[in-house]
Amino acid sequence: MTASRPAHRITGPLRTWYDMHEALSHEVTALAEMSAHLAAGELGEFAQRFSYFDQELRTHSEVEDGIIFPAIAQRGGAIAPELVAEHQEEQLRVYALGTAILHAKATRDGRSLSALAPLSGALRDSLRNHLQLEEAEALSQVDDLFTTDEQAELLRAIMSSLPADPHLQPWVAAALTPEHLEARLRNMAASLNHTALVGVLTQIHDGVDVATWAAVRSRVPDLAALVAGDMTNRGNRAG
Ligand SMILES: [Fe+2]
Ligand SMILES: [Fe+2]
Repeated sequence: MTASRPAHRITGPLRTWYDMHEALSHEVTALAEMSAHLAAGELGEFAQRFSYFDQELRTHSEVEDGIIFPAIAQRGGAIAPELVAEHQEEQLRVYALGTAILHAKATRDGRSLSALAPLSGALRDSLRNHLQLEEAEALSQVDDLFTTDEQAELLRAIMSSLPADPHLQPWVAAALTPEHLEARLRNMAASLNHTALVGVLTQIHDGVDVATWAAVRSRVPDLAALVAGDMTNRGNRAG
């Protein structure tokens, strides 16, 4: 029996997809935890965090349905229909939570605030299950279907197809463990051209808090040094 054998994980450049999954999982878990004991004064912070999550989840799923899954299918791979259906169901759950947040903002009563917890919890549970299924059923095929160069090419096609999103890189960086962040940045350094790499690092530098940038500097000092004026800018911000 091989049923319990762990699914193959991508080892080529598209392994960056696990970074997105970890960031999405981290953020939806944090939202569910926040919503479980949310005070009225924290609603604005919760709404803003949800808004970023909403945007990145939607983009992530659209790229899967629009680029990655068709590429896998074109190479003879198989995409389980429930993965696509789950993307659409997640959007309905996100919509329900977004609506409930607006209602809570407008009414500011305890009942509308406490309505956020079950919606956030349901979104967390369904998304975590989805990410697991997707890694087992879809991402596990990637290394067999695409060479390292083809994965890098697909990654570039994804990045060049998306509108500019200066918030994305800092959002992912802040959500990852320092170990995973280091692996992500090393992966990027191996996959991106110099200009794109400096662009990503500069976005992270400009968008994260002092602690996250300190982790970058300590884990990948050679990459942190690529950011022009790093020491000066960070010194001013920290001081
Ligand atoms: Fe997905
Ligand atoms: Fe995904």
